[in-house]
Amino acid sequence: MDAYQTIISKRDLRQYTEDPISDDVLGRVLQAARMAGSAKNVEPNRLILISDQNVQDAVALAGDFTSWIGSSTLIIGIAAQEDDLRLFDTGRTAQNLMLAAHGEGLATCPVTLHHQDVARDAIGFPADWVMPMAVTMGWPDPEAPRSPLSRQRVSLDELVIRNRWS
Ligand SMILES: Cc1cc2nc3c(=O)[nH]c(=O)nc-3n(C[C@H](O)[C@H](O)[C@H](O)COP(=O)(O)O)c2cc1C
Repeated sequence: MDAYQTIISKRDLRQYTEDPISDDVLGRVLQAARMAGSAKNVEPNRLILISDQNVQDAVALAGDFTSWIGSSTLIIGIAAQEDDLRLFDTGRTAQNLMLAAHGEGLATCPVTLHHQDVARDAIGFPADWVMPMAVTMGWPDPEAPRSPLSRQRVSLDELVIRNRWS
């Protein structure tokens, strides 16, 4: 798959097989996340790899739409010190990670962690840190049903505005 195909064919998937993710594959995915740029080159993000079932189950309680994430092979929390948090940077890190994972054949889904007190208790990160987003990961379950949210993207005509709003 070339880079363009990798980008445009990426879909979010929430069901994974039990197959483990090798250190080699995970290393390439993490390296891709590491290379994401950040505002003023601060590099605020830290990646928390959550494979322990008890920790996964505790993190699942930190989001409003995350009840399913405890069945992931791996959850990667994206944490930053609250003062340095830029969600654009979080998104760049997440997208690098997810596209590299997709290139390796892995499936991923970004999830929102709405309740920072719960996330903090689950992980034990310091009081001035937050972990607003996580990415779930695993080898795609071939039997996975289509997401109920699945639909066509908006058309290019609707997406693109040239020069001035009209
Ligand atoms: C910022 C953001 C937050 C998301 N949060 C959740 C979430 O909390 N739980 C969840 O199951 N999916 C979550 N998603 C996944 C979206 O539902 C998914 O991106 C959307 O349905 C498009 O999926 P597709 O690429 O497979 O078409 C989130 C996606 C984004 C971009």
